[in-house]
Amino acid sequence: MTPTDCFVVQPNGALRGATIVPGDKSISHRAVMFGALASGVTHVRGWLAAGDTEATLRSVQALGIAIERRSPHDLTIHGGSFKPPTAPLNLVNAGTGIRLLAGIMVGQPFASVLDGSEQLRRRPMKRIVTPLRLMGADITATDDRAPLYIRPAPLHGIHYEMPVASAQVKSAVLLAALFAEGPTTVVEPGPARDHTERMLAAMGARLETDGQAVTLHPGAPLLPMNLTVPGDISSAAFPLVAALLTPGSDITLTGINLNPTRTGLLEVLQAMGADVTVTQTGLEAGEPVGSIRARHSQLKGVEVGGDVVVEMIDEFPILMVAALLAEGETVVRDAQELRVKETDRIHVMATELARLGAHIEETPDGFRVRGPQRLVGAVVDGHDDHRVAMSLAVAGMAASGETRVLDARCAGDSFPGFAEVMARLGAAIRVEALGA
Ligand code: S3P
Repeated sequence: MTPTDCFVVQPNGALRGATIVPGDKSISHRAVMFGALASGVTHVRGWLAAGDTEATLRSVQALGIAIERRSPHDLTIHGGSFKPPTAPLNLVNAGTGIRLLAGIMVGQPFASVLDGSEQLRRRPMKRIVTPLRLMGADITATDDRAPLYIRPAPLHGIHYEMPVASAQVKSAVLLAALFAEGPTTVVEPGPARDHTERMLAAMGARLETDGQAVTLHPGAPLLPMNLTVPGDISSAAFPLVAALLTPGSDITLTGINLNPTRTGLLEVLQAMGADVTVTQTGLEAGEPVGSIRARHSQLKGVEVGGDVVVEMIDEFPILMVAALLAEGETVVRDAQELRVKETDRIHVMATELARLGAHIEETPDGFRVRGPQRLVGAVVDGHDDHRVAMSLAVAGMAASGETRVLDARCAGDSFPGFAEVMARLGAAIRVEALGA
């Protein structure tokens, strides 16, 4: 796809069949970075080869780490010692990439610069810069945004109460803690995804969890891993909601990561009356994995707020689409973090869905929707935000007539092959190269 590619979507008939989805993005970022930190050879299967994770992989290679690829999804990482990079590390659009790597770079005996796209340069970095500086890190950044200029400095452990529930912040601090003198404790205000804790513990790091507090004791050597990345529930969310909204649909998504810090959407959809069945089949990479079966359902409105918000933080764009088609009112609160994702996802989704005829009331920390609403196909824009582009494509499937989602290439930041997977299930979607 080229940057101007678009999704062309028609209302479709029933979605049916079983499919896998690409590997979990959060785990794929971590597998590359943590594998690089381990002394020895890490094997990763099912790795997500997508825009965001490839940016992390290139950055790790630029730090002198050798990575062999038997296929785009099978990596052999020769971990050990980093070399000083010869140029700024470019994380492109990857918020997880830059924030976690910053936690690692502050602990290195050499200087580095972390940078990214214009979109990434607009995102807040103060949330990581503040605790890392409290640990002694030397970071210079204009207006606390990327590029981040990092110089070597001795680090010491801290006790840090995080003001926002964010796995990226928690992870950046825990990674820096590996290189600090003395233990570090992070206290989180809500149950943000815990992939960092699970993976570091599996690698031999000394971690203790006590309620919402996680403590890392530095010094234990990190052992290499042998892991298979499970499917990303945040990608599964798109076919899942499309099936719920389309009469006659019955699909099964297999091999999906069911980590309870990630399954908030399933809980909320079930409260909306969705016919969703979850079956755990095993464990992969220390994470529960299983299948999700979804059948067409008449949804009803729901109230969402509190702890579940962080457990589905990436799923609000697609929830907004489900809420439009649900009977009654849906109210989302406590989700102000959506305003500092790749885009302001509350505003961008409300604005783009309005082009399809939807009316969504924005609130400072969420939105209100009264459904069901009738959607009419139109031209909409993905705003270089993968989850926005894919959510709009699903909205197009529930609209009458044709919907064109411009700037759709960004779907490949997390879900390469999105249109192909949806089409195989029966969706009327194709990719059109514009200006080719
Ligand atoms: C992620 C954490 C979340 C999420 C992002 C991935 C991670 O961000 O939105 O897509 O892998 O740690 P925050 O930690 O900023 O909430």
